[in-house]
Amino acid sequence: MTAILKTLQADITTLKVDAIVNAANTSLLGGGGVDGAIHRAAGPELLAACRLLGGCRTGDAKITPGFSLPARFVIHAVGPIWRGGAEHEAELLASCYRRAIEIASENGIASLAFPCISTGVYGYPIETATEVAVRTVRVTLAAHQSIHEVIFCCFSVQDLAVYQHLLGAAAPLSSDPL
Ligand code: AR6
Repeated sequence: MTAILKTLQADITTLKVDAIVNAANTSLLGGGGVDGAIHRAAGPELLAACRLLGGCRTGDAKITPGFSLPARFVIHAVGPIWRGGAEHEAELLASCYRRAIEIASENGIASLAFPCISTGVYGYPIETATEVAVRTVRVTLAAHQSIHEVIFCCFSVQDLAVYQHLLGAAAPLSSDPL
């Protein structure tokens, strides 16, 4: 079975998927942007659960329940801060997407939504971040067939256009083996 890759413009906290991915920081103790929105929507139990995780390295991810969110789980991924592109940013961003999918697969998650990790306050240019995101998700899904749907959830219409262009240009909206 090939997974569906979709993009849409939405507040990720409203999505009824098995798991949403958070663009967190290494403390996992909350912040602004999508991280703040997820913590507000999930309620204070999320912060309590995050406190038990002992932080997370850049490029890695950890899972918690979704508490008051419609999503059953939150996978907290820590993207790199953009420092010009020569500080392993692409590798670390790819690692976030890969680790999130691996953790989803280990937890029986079939549908998953990603925000545009690192492209807000962390400053990663949206076009190159999107290329890394789509390529990594396609490649990683080939080894994790239990995941049926991945949504790239964009907050802005500009980001949505970048994803639509890339997903459209790269042929079918699926994770066909490369
Ligand atoms: N739903 C979907 N996407 C959203 C939402 C939302 N409710 N809110 C914002 N975005 P950012 P980063 C988009 O800055 O760059 C936090 O303080 C936003 O428009 O949230 O990875 C963390 O604690 C952008 O496209 O994450 C870290 O310290 C995308 O989410 C730091 O920010 C990511 O922007 C992480 O920075």
